[in-house]
Amino acid sequence: MSLKPLVIDNLVAKVPIIQGGMGIGISLANLAGAVSREGGIGILSTAQIGYQEELFEKSPLRANMLAIEKQFKKAKEIANNGLIGFNIMAATFHYDRYVKRCVEVGADVIISGAGLPITLPELVEGSQTKIAPIVSSSKGAKVLLNTWKKRYNKTADFVVIEGPEAGGHLGFKAETLSKNIEQMDDEIVKIVETIRSFEEDFGKDIPIIFAGGVFDRSDIDHYLALGCSGVQMATRFVVTEECDAPEAFKTAYINAEQEDITIIKSPVGMPGRAIKNRFSERIKHEQVPIEKCRSCLSYKHCDRETIPYCITETLLNAVTKDPNDALIFAGSNAYRIKEKTTVKAIFAELTTA
Ligand SMILES: Cc1cc2nc3c(=O)[nH]c(=O)nc-3n(C[C@H](O)[C@H](O)[C@H](O)COP(=O)(O)O)c2cc1C
Repeated sequence: MSLKPLVIDNLVAKVPIIQGGMGIGISLANLAGAVSREGGIGILSTAQIGYQEELFEKSPLRANMLAIEKQFKKAKEIANNGLIGFNIMAATFHYDRYVKRCVEVGADVIISGAGLPITLPELVEGSQTKIAPIVSSSKGAKVLLNTWKKRYNKTADFVVIEGPEAGGHLGFKAETLSKNIEQMDDEIVKIVETIRSFEEDFGKDIPIIFAGGVFDRSDIDHYLALGCSGVQMATRFVVTEECDAPEAFKTAYINAEQEDITIIKSPVGMPGRAIKNRFSERIKHEQVPIEKCRSCLSYKHCDRETIPYCITETLLNAVTKDPNDALIFAGSNAYRIKEKTTVKAIFAELTTA
């Protein structure tokens, strides 16, 4: 059976696949544009999006504001004007300025997790930009959507559920991850029920998108059967010609075996999933000195005195230096990727039932 388009209010994606935002420097215009051109929704990560700009060392914030527009325009061009959005982490320092800038350049959607995006509705007020929080539990979904309802009388345009098999930061405790993996399908059903009650309240459809470990068509069919309208996939798109990551980063994915996919402690206070390497081993027993603070996180989320390493520095090193000495975020299925392909080929495979 062919996949049904994803309809978010007045936006229609021909294929119900959103490419997950990947910072730093992994999902920029080339990848997001290619995904959108195939009928999905391409997502640019705003995490230090301007790291290649000359201004970056002097003023990361200004460089990022500049790059938001540049990358968005380039992605739209590649996509023949298909749907392009941004992933903005709620813990980002100056979160409000990032959201407003993405709205200003014309973002079709904004997806926001890694913290609660409490103020997101007021920041997009009066624009056409559609918003989605990332949630990992029905409790989390309820708390956030109730807050939006009380404060703004607004709700989400769609919701991304991120499960425990995702890459990058995870919304679960490291100790409970295997239990969370076992129980995720039940949790999805509960989240779907929760969201349905907000659909009734607001008299509108709120499509639900599942992310985390989605790899092939049978995974997609599984989550659609649980009540989702689409999926968000990130890891699967890393080892493509179009992905903005450097070759060494892609090679680390190709060389990873199942036992190399590991859980690390992030200074953000959440666990993260990454590929085991010199860096992931080093941080188990060593505090890595911080060379330069680029004010990536709000003070609430980063205590510069006590953090084991700097998250921006290590994610930047993964795309500018030897990734073996940096954090290589990856989802639980990264080890299944054995060769480089193209976004077109992945879409052809996933849309053929
Ligand atoms: C390399 C990498 C970087 C990521 N960076 C971010 C990020 O900056 N913000 C975010 O919300 N999620 C981030 N994620 C999570 C993805 O957007 C996505 O939701 C998740 O990885 C989906 O699972 P999958 O990779 O198994 O498809 C990242 C994932 C990877 C693999």
